Amino acid sequence: MTPITLPLSSRRATKALARALARALGPGDLVILSGPLGAGKTFLVRAALRELGFPEGLAVTSPTFSLVHEYDTTPRLLHADLYRIAGPEEVAPLGLAEERAQGAALIVEWGEPYVAELGGDPLVVELVVTPAAATTGPRPLDAVRRAVVSAKGAASAATLERMRATLGNVVEASRGGGG
Ligand SMILES: Nc1ncnc2c1ncn2[C@@H]1O[C@H](COP(=O)(O)OP(=O)(O)OP(=O)(O)O)[C@@H](O)[C@H]1O
Ligand SMILES: [Mg+2]
Repeated sequence: MTPITLPLSSRRATKALARALARALGPGDLVILSGPLGAGKTFLVRAALRELGFPEGLAVTSPTFSLVHEYDTTPRLLHADLYRIAGPEEVAPLGLAEERAQGAALIVEWGEPYVAELGGDPLVVELVVTPAAATTGPRPLDAVRRAVVSAKGAASAATLERMRATLGNVVEASRGGGG
């Protein structure tokens, strides 16, 4: 299963990735968002929720302290941030694997160590940030960002292929029709 690699040279590119993810997302899917502090994990979830129809007027905040935020979208979405979790024994009581089994899609920041406790078969969206080299000029260069999306099981492989189809269309739409 070939991963998807995508440059994220602007917030707009990250939003396009989020839209493809939202459209591909099925009930019971597990998405692991990996990448360093400030990589854009919460930004991506916010954009995915807008695509799922969650109103612009309602804030999508980071579940840093509450651990899990729930959204009544289709599919129902749970957004978790496990940064503050001390170990795997703290994951089971959150009931996230059970929520998946009942049809919720689960998007988790800092969830890599807990894939088993979350029910396995993750779609891994890795946000890679290469810090800009130090410059002596007046304007610092932007960091270079890209995403690598890979599947670790059968359900996630199907989701990955749905994403690939959407992103292919996005690329073709931006190439063609320019007149
Ligand atoms: N191409 C880009 N894609 C996403 N975010 C970007 C991009 N360029 C700049 N940003 C900015 O980077 C920041 C990403 O913050 P965000 O809270 O989403 O990170 P995070 O990965 O969730 O961090 P944490 O691990 O602390 O939860 C935002 O302020 C966003 O505007
Ligand atoms: Mg975050």
